[in-house]
Amino acid sequence: MSNLTLLNDRFNRNINYLRISITDRCNLQCTYCNPHNLVPKLTHEGILSYEELLRIIRVAVRLGISKIRITGGEPLVRKGVYHFLKEIVAIEGIKDVSLTTNGVLLKDNIRKIKQAGIKRINVSLDSLNRRNFEKITRRDLFSQVWEGIESARSEGLEPIKLNVVAIRGQNDHEFQDIARLSFDYPFHIRFIEYMPVGDATFNKSHQILTPEIKKRLRNIGKLIRIPNLINDGPARRYRFKGAIGEIGFISAISRHFCHDCNRLRLTASGALRACLLSDRQTDIKGPLRSGCSDLELARVFMHAIYLKPTGHHITKDHDHPVNGKMFAIGG
Ligand code: 5AD
Repeated sequence: MSNLTLLNDRFNRNINYLRISITDRCNLQCTYCNPHNLVPKLTHEGILSYEELLRIIRVAVRLGISKIRITGGEPLVRKGVYHFLKEIVAIEGIKDVSLTTNGVLLKDNIRKIKQAGIKRINVSLDSLNRRNFEKITRRDLFSQVWEGIESARSEGLEPIKLNVVAIRGQNDHEFQDIARLSFDYPFHIRFIEYMPVGDATFNKSHQILTPEIKKRLRNIGKLIRIPNLINDGPARRYRFKGAIGEIGFISAISRHFCHDCNRLRLTASGALRACLLSDRQTDIKGPLRSGCSDLELARVFMHAIYLKPTGHHITKDHDHPVNGKMFAIGG
């Protein structure tokens, strides 16, 4: 196969971004991600090996995927991850490899991440208060995460994006403090609308949509819009006057970005999911392990893309929870 751009879906969206969950295990147990404190259930055989993942990635790249994000669970808890990252970075045709982490293991491993060739990371950080962080994550690890973020900064990773899932009654009293970080740090702080994924104990009343978040930040200053670049992803970007960092809003509910969604997800258990907010998925592990050819794997990709819906149907008034668990699908 030569280099093709075959991954255009039925609605002419060009799918060039693959997000891969490499484990469903995590060293935090966030109440919104894993509400019932479930123990991850995938066995060693249940997850794709690094070799299998690399083969899938190579096929994907030949089809037009050029951007990869590694996520979890917590990707840094999987043994051998740094070598794996290095191997992905080395694949010809890949322009961008990034990582989403909860930051717990960052401090001790930032050099290895950098040496693997990763230039930018996203860190989930829903609270700046040690006690509240513990309430949300069920682990008293705020300081460790903060030190991890600081060390990523001193190693020159840029930009460092901080993901804040906005949940009423959980961290909304901290929005201003979190946003103020952008005056002192060059971080891109992104407020993410809470999405009903997994059997969540949160419901609509816990959701805080972007217009309300913005209102709550009014006292801090005026948010100045920064135009989005072509490969920016769904966050709408802003900056407070005089700030060195940015504020972004990811409004999956109040402002769908499905029309230009370029993503495909590979779950830890080896299924392709074309929409985070739909339970439809296509098994790729089965065909892979039954000895299929690269061409057949490519067909699995095209089928998954064929199933990509025009858009999701979750609105502020209509819940349609997704059964899949966030810690297995990857955010
Ligand atoms: N809604 C919105 N964001 C979520 N994340 C995890 N679960 C949800 C949810 N239900 C976020 C995490 C992480 C990113 C990968 O996805 O905070 O930063």
